Amino acid sequence: MQHTDKLNELKNKKKSALEGGGAKRIESQHKKGKLTARERIDILLDKGSFHEMDMLVRHHSDSFGLDKQKYYGDGVVTGYGRIDGRLVYLFSQDFTVFGGSLSEAHGEKICKIMDLALKNGAPVIGINDSGGARIQEGVASLGAYAEIFLRNTLASGVIPQISAVVGPCAGGAVYSPAITDFIFMVEKTSHMFVTGPNVVKTVTHENVTFDELGGSSTHSQKSGVAHFNEKSEVDCLLHIRRLMTFIPQNNAEEPPEKETKDPADRTEPKLDSIIPASASVPYDMKEIITFVVDDGDFMEVHEEYAGNIIVGFARCGGKSVGIIANQPTMMAGVLNINASVKAARFVRFCDAFNIPLVTFVDVPGFLPGTEQEWQGIIRHGAKLLYAYCEATVPKITVITRKAYGGAYDVMSSKHIRGDVNLAWPTAEIAVMGPKGAAEIIFKKELEQAEKPEELLQERTEEYGDKFANPYIAAERGYIDDVIQPSTTRQEIISALQMLENKVDTNPKRKHGNIPL
Ligand code: HXC
Repeated sequence: MQHTDKLNELKNKKKSALEGGGAKRIESQHKKGKLTARERIDILLDKGSFHEMDMLVRHHSDSFGLDKQKYYGDGVVTGYGRIDGRLVYLFSQDFTVFGGSLSEAHGEKICKIMDLALKNGAPVIGINDSGGARIQEGVASLGAYAEIFLRNTLASGVIPQISAVVGPCAGGAVYSPAITDFIFMVEKTSHMFVTGPNVVKTVTHENVTFDELGGSSTHSQKSGVAHFNEKSEVDCLLHIRRLMTFIPQNNAEEPPEKETKDPADRTEPKLDSIIPASASVPYDMKEIITFVVDDGDFMEVHEEYAGNIIVGFARCGGKSVGIIANQPTMMAGVLNINASVKAARFVRFCDAFNIPLVTFVDVPGFLPGTEQEWQGIIRHGAKLLYAYCEATVPKITVITRKAYGGAYDVMSSKHIRGDVNLAWPTAEIAVMGPKGAAEIIFKKELEQAEKPEELLQERTEEYGDKFANPYIAAERGYIDDVIQPSTTRQEIISALQMLENKVDTNPKRKHGNIPL
């Protein structure tokens, strides 16, 4: 063969790879409101930064006519590129080739880039759009999935792993995204379920649509499987880029810093009067967060799930922080099972990746009731406690109002290695609220009283005056200072700077046994 023929041969093979499953299937993909695997990569990565690997891989099967259907790339585009100049590895499943289904070869391509990512300490982003196991390949496909699950697990806490589910993701295939750190889904076009509507109907006789069973709203609001519910694929990919700006490349690196013009000593007078006079009146904790962080820029995670706790990323003085905050506008900010699990996972992500924790506390306690007890609030609440206890990153806590009972201990208290614990003058740090406390302590007196209501009111005020404040905790050093709310931003930034070189460790062990 002449040199030119050889070059043409290469050109033709690559051209064929770029065409995926062909023009008709690409058109059908677009008609469904979906982008192709390569269009997604173009949006996700810095322009021109993508380097493809294994473009010429094809499957090794000949059953069920597969020998006559061989596509270069085999249904997944893999490689590496840059987001804001920083290296990422990625795979993007190509639904136009065998429905993006996972063959042995397809799985090997994904594993290759995961191995490289782990060795080189850079994040992996998986764009999932797949009919699941390549049915014609049988167990070889199942083996390939398991190879990916193993790598997801070994990479967990070492490099960030992010999943965009932008099409079907069914059966055991869901467990790869499930192990990764963050799942993004897109309205209408994303679906995740262990068994689809037809199987559900056969087994449980329930009639349920694809969307109801496993759409992005279901997983963002009901199950908590998805962390981000996106309106479109473009939003999804751009938000992944935004998320990357808060997190480091790996667990040995610090998160990237971003210069800000927002002054570190900015005071916010509105904070001095944001807490209502009555302890039972709510206020929006998100307002406090946006007042405090750089440029009001807060990227909320799990926004639509367990709204009684808020988690997300922001920066204070240019440094990334993970924010955890009780939300008084939703169920008075009580801790229930979903809130505990949501916050625990977030705390563990931040701790694994050297992102300091800033916790805002206004919590009346754990949610009472048979439903919560029987579902295991003891076990699930313990996850949040465990996560905070084991976290060794800088931990800053600001108690704005209630910090009652066990929830006081759990929400990054001094006793579980909070580094800087601050309270506003409006803080109430006590075993329980004044009314509940008075009812118990003065039970006998109230039973014998002529006017029990009046006496209860009196005793409640008495208890409140004595205990519903931050000063008893301050006397013991359980909080380091009572601060003027308007100065919260400068207090947090100064604490972060003071804790910049913090080193803390946990006892040597194979791993802890978090109450799962
Ligand atoms: C091989 C597949 C495939 C698969 C789809 N295709 N899924 N090929 N293996 N799993 C092919 C189709 O034959 C078709 O090929 C093309 O992809 C597009 O599929 P359509 O059905 O036309 O698309 P659509 O109507 O959008 O439906 C998408 C779908 C459906 C909902 C994903 O294709 C589907 O139900 N597929 C099977 C899903 C499934 O049961 N997978 C196994 C799950 S169990 P042509 O040539 O016509 O373009 C599993 C176990 C994992 O994954 C275990 C891990 C431990």
